[in-house]
Order: sequence, then structure tokens, then C-alpha cells
Amino acid sequence: MARLRKLDLGRLSILVVLLIGTAAILTKDQWDWIFEPDEAETQGVSAETLTIDDDAVERLYRISPNNGSAVSYAVEESLAGSDKVSTGVTQVVAGDIIINTADPAASQVGEVVVNVEMFDSDSSLRDKRLRHDFLESTHWPFARFSVTAIDGLDVDFADGETYDVSLTGDLTVKETTSEEIFSGTVTVTGEQLVASVSAEILSSTYGVGPINIARLAHTKDEVTLSFDLVADRVAVGTEADDGELETDIPEFAVAGGAFADTVQPILEENCVSCHISGGPGWDTLAFDTAADAAEVAEDIALVTEIRFMPPWLPGGDSPEFEHDWSLSDDEIATIGAWAADGGGLDVAPDTELVARGQAIIPIEEDQVVAPRDGAYTTEVDEAGQPTRADEYRCQVHEVDDPEGDGTWIKGYEFRPDQKSIVHHSIIYLAPAEALDEIARKSAEDERPGWTCFGTSNLSTSGVGNMGGWAPGQAPTVFPDGYGLFIPSGHMVINQIHFHHDHEALEDNSLIILDEATPEQIDGITGIAGSSYLTPAEVPCTPEEQAIAAEREATVDGYVNLCVRANVIEEIREKYDNFATFIPNALLLQCGGTVDDYDDLEGSVGYSSCDLRAKNPGTIYTVLGHMHEFGDAYRMTLNPDTPEEMVLLDIPNWDFEWQLNYDLVEDVEITRADTIRFECWWDRTRLYMPEPRYITWNEGTVDEMCFSSVTVLPEPGDHGSVTPLGS
Ligand code: HEC
Repeated sequence: MARLRKLDLGRLSILVVLLIGTAAILTKDQWDWIFEPDEAETQGVSAETLTIDDDAVERLYRISPNNGSAVSYAVEESLAGSDKVSTGVTQVVAGDIIINTADPAASQVGEVVVNVEMFDSDSSLRDKRLRHDFLESTHWPFARFSVTAIDGLDVDFADGETYDVSLTGDLTVKETTSEEIFSGTVTVTGEQLVASVSAEILSSTYGVGPINIARLAHTKDEVTLSFDLVADRVAVGTEADDGELETDIPEFAVAGGAFADTVQPILEENCVSCHISGGPGWDTLAFDTAADAAEVAEDIALVTEIRFMPPWLPGGDSPEFEHDWSLSDDEIATIGAWAADGGGLDVAPDTELVARGQAIIPIEEDQVVAPRDGAYTTEVDEAGQPTRADEYRCQVHEVDDPEGDGTWIKGYEFRPDQKSIVHHSIIYLAPAEALDEIARKSAEDERPGWTCFGTSNLSTSGVGNMGGWAPGQAPTVFPDGYGLFIPSGHMVINQIHFHHDHEALEDNSLIILDEATPEQIDGITGIAGSSYLTPAEVPCTPEEQAIAAEREATVDGYVNLCVRANVIEEIREKYDNFATFIPNALLLQCGGTVDDYDDLEGSVGYSSCDLRAKNPGTIYTVLGHMHEFGDAYRMTLNPDTPEEMVLLDIPNWDFEWQLNYDLVEDVEITRADTIRFECWWDRTRLYMPEPRYITWNEGTVDEMCFSSVTVLPEPGDHGSVTPLGS
């Protein structure tokens, strides 16, 4: 932590301008940039002040950002697979304390206010994440602690003596207030009061954790919150500190790093297209300028080293796929060396980074299909804030078919409208028979479309998966001679995963269809798609079973959801009988029973099922789909035979990035071939306050092991999209 100093922000900006101005006329090697921290929007703090009634026995002490107080959090974190305790500190804290020397137990602690937006840890990326996603401190910059009872001061007061105390009070973080007890020590002298108290709180209580960024970072629910307070004695009638911030300024002093010829091209080629203003990754992290990258050099090295970014999941034994945008080992090493060297710049910090990734060739825009029921805006609360962060919404997009003879398409594109909130989309085709069910589901709320997670949530038969989109994905263009037939009356169903931060934006994402010309239709062959549904059964761990059993024994009316039958019953109430039938049908199909899934490896469950290939032809794309517990995925052709070939291997699954992968090699399959579908789930990937048996279904707390293989049938054979069954 850099040293604390009194700071005049206005003057600092001038200083920065001067420095940069001066630097520009120096030689390259002498450049020494200092960046102004531009992240925290609220940098000050203020608290109510207390007044003294009787200055013979009462002394007023004041905590202000200037006198060395620190509030810190410590949480066990697994970052990129290694465990550590991460800590963050803020020194921007205020509050008043009155010590009654005659009757210490009658001492008072005014509300202690902490500016949590100024939390500073060893990773500026973590700080950004906290501000933006978890603590959301840009919106709720202050945490407050109101003491309701002080224990331990029932003593004969002596200056300089250290007393053990415990403070009970109401802690408010974000929008939640909950009682917590802090314990520690306090020492009071005529001039100063020094107190160190801490409490173990649960981040879930306040909706700020546990943090779960698939493949990158996980934290424990328990967080130690410590107040190391220094309060200076103030004379009666002293005005409160005006709360003007005094903070440390992180200096990203970056001189002479090799950037322009080494790292910059890698970022511009592979990262900037998503991390540029308006891009899908921009909200999390902007790479608009060289300084933006230098500021998080170590984090860039980390996320590339573990191949978290760019998001390309196939690894391990996967075959080669088209459009592989993962970095080479050399590129990763180049970034690593730059960061290890201090992440310096040899260009001006405000040098703009330009997206130079492979230009995406637009498809022919024959039909632009908008949502039938209009643009979508999420539900908001009284303050105009979205009521939920993650939302899965399905909408009908009607295909224009004037002749009534169906539509052949040569390709399609999902075109996100509000890129900052549209995370991904899964596209289905549904027959006209689904209209009744759609009307029923759409009537459940006032907004266009219906709520759907995982799939379209339609059980009408004939609903099939058509494709999907994740940020950065190019439009789908079918190979020459092939197309997709949309039968007359069929609709496109678009499931969008919205991630709302604080704005309820109106979204009008579109689907673009490239219709085949009459010449193309002549002799066209239909792409055939098949879906494979295999069991998803993940029992509670023995520890979770014990917790649930204990609650069942002690809490009235508690339903033990570690018992599979209870989960199935809950699914029946939430959905319908059909939904409860799928998990058992899948077990039957794969020739197993629930007992086969009993053995977890720690918190990881596993499912494997061999099925006959459904559609013959040349494999075009492969896709695996799980929900948020998904940990790893594998699809293998003809397993345990000399011809065994892994079709897709994702050793480290990420719910955010589910793409159709297009094999480079031509692999033929026939109905005599067997495909093995394997899914792994880690129960710790998603925080569950109540332990629960996980089985196949639509909800966020349910799972799937869903796979899709599209093939190019022999020319002339008009393939079909086989029903998905859900
Ligand atoms: C296809 C779009 C895309 C590409 C390409 C991409 N990113 Fe990202 N990146 C994202 C998105 C979206 C997120 C936010 C992830 C989330 O919300 O979990 C992100 C998050 C990050 C994070 C923050 C990690 C965290 O969760 O705190 C870093 C660092 C990052 N990207 C660096 C890079 C680098 C370096 C590259 C290039 C080597 C790159 N990204 C390429 C879309 C992309």
C-alpha cells in the first residue's frame, strides 16, 4: 500500500497534464507516466457527528480519513487454481466516538461510515470487479456500522490501558442491514483512541459473494472484516472533517516497457474487438488505450496464461476447429514477459488501441427478423433498477414466408442490439403447434416473451435447436451446396441471456436470415442436426447431506432437497409432470440407475452415456451444453475402439461461452457409430444456500448434459432438424 498523503485532486490533474506534457519532449527511455486513478466515483466519506453533554467526564474522538484508520476485508480465494487469502483495504472511513471516563460503559459510538469504493487490493482487476459486479460500490459506495451495544467497558477507566471489547450493531452493505458482533481491543489516551475489532461475516448475507467467476476466481462465503481505527481527540465544537478525501494514488509508473511491437499487436488482434467501447467485454474491462492495458498488465498475463481469455474452451484432446482464436504459447509468453518486466509502455498512454481481429464477413441480409412482440425491457423496481441481474428470456421471431412453402437459408446471424447486456443467445425452431404453449407462457407476465433458462422451455414436440451466439462469434454460413430448411409455419425462438447491471435498456436484437436463391435451392442439401440428451445427476456431498438432515430435524417444515424425490416433486410444482419424467427417462435410455451417480469426487459429479449416432453424414459442428455447475465436457466418437476419436474436449467448462465448434477435418459418421457424452459438474461452482440434489431440468439450480451434432448429409439427402424434446 502506498503512503497516505493529503491530496488536492484538482491540483493532481494539472500535475498529470504537466508530467505528460513534459514527458512527451523527453526521449523514449525517460518516459515515466503517472496515471490518475479514475475508477472510484465517490472518493470521500462523511459521518454524523456526536456532541458532548458533560466535558468533565466525556471525551470526543473522531475517526477521519486522515489519521491512519483502515478497514479491511480478508477472504480465502482460489484464483486460477491456486489458493490464497486476498485482502483489500480502505482508509476512507469516518465516525465519532465518545468515551465517558467516569462510566466507560456509557460511552457511545456514532455511526461508522466506510467508503468501500476505495477498497484497494493487490489486483486492480479485483478492485474493478468489486466495484462493478459484486460490491457494486459505484452505486452503493458506503458501508455503515451502527453500534447498538458495547460490552467490555464495564471497567474502572485508566488512560493507556487496553480493554477487550465487543461491539454489537447493524452492518449495512449495499441494500442489506444485518446484525454483526465485532470483537477486539480498544486503548484510549488523552489524545487518541485506537481500536482494532473484527468479525467474520458471510458475504452472501449482503449479496456480495461468494464470488464465482468460472475458471478464474472463487471465494469462500466467510469474509473477515476488520476495523483498525485511529480516532483523534477533538475539542468540543470542532467542525467535522469535511470528508475531503485523502488517499493514496496508485502510481502505474510505466517507463520503457516493450509494448508497441510486441504486446500491442497481440491485444489488437485478439482482445480489443471485445474490450473496446460498446463491446461485450468492455463493461468488465476496457482496452481503449495503451494505459488501460498497462494498468492491468499482471491481470492480462494471468488470464492469458490460464487461457481464460480470449474465451476459447476446447483444449485437451480436442481436434482442430475453424476460427480458433486462442493465443499461441509464444504470444502468451510475450505477454507474460512484458508484465513481469513491469508492464511498461513505449507509447504514449493515451495511444488508442484498434481492433484488428479477423474481419467478420457479413452475411447476405435477405430477411431481418425482429421479435414479434416488440423490443424487450426487463422488470424494474421503484428506483428504476432491474429487479434481477441475470435473466433468460425467449421471444418469437416470425419468419416471412409469403408463398407458404417454407424457407431455405444459407446462413444466419444473431445481431445483438444492447451489446452491454446481451450475453448470449440460443436459437430454436418451433412448429406452429407450439403457438398455444407460447401464448400460455407469454401470459405469465406483461413483458414480451417468456422466461426460459437453459432451453426454450417449450415442451411441444418438434422444437429443435438451430444454433447459438456468444459475443465475438461470426455469422453462420453453411458450406456450398448446403442449407437449413425452415418449414412453413415454423418460427424462430430466440433465447437471450441478459446480464443487467444498473440499466434496464430496451433491447431489440435481431436475427438476420440469408435466404437461398433459386439457383442455390436447386440441388441443395439440408444440414441435419441431432440433439443428444444424457443424464445429469449430482447428489449432495456427505457434508451437505448432514447439513440438510440436521435442518430437517430442527427446522419446522424444512424440505430436505438432498433427497432426489423431493427435488422431483419441486420440479413438478414449478413446471409440470412432463418435466419430472425427463430425468428418469434419460437414466433408462443410458441403461443406468440413480445409484450409479452416488460417488462424487469431492464436490464433482460425473455422467457418461453411449448413444448411437442419429444422423449420418460429415460432421459439421459439435456443441456441448450444461448450466452453471458445468465443470468439464467431452464427446468421443467410437470410444474404446481402435477408431476412437475425441470430437470435443472442454477440460474447463465456462457457462458464458457455449459455441458450436466447426471441425477442420472431415469426419464421417453412420448410424452404426457410437458417441460417448461425458459431463462433469462441480457443486461448488454456484453458491447454494440450501444443499440440493441436482438433476436434469430447466432451472438455474438444475443441470443438463446436452449435446448437439450437426452433419452435412450425402448430397441429395434432405436432412432434418430432429426435435430437441424440450
Ligand atoms: C469474444 C470476446 C472477448 C475476447 C476476444 C476477449 N475478451 Fe476478455 N472478456 C470478455 C468478456 C465478455 C469478459 C467478462 C467476462 C465475465 O463477465 O465473466 C471478459 C473479461 C476479461 C477480463 C476480466 C476477468 C474478470 O472476470 O475479472 C480480462 C482481464 C480480459 N477479459 C482480458 C482479455 C484479454 C487480454 C484478451 C485477449 C488476449 C481478451 N480478454 C479477449 C470478452 C472477450
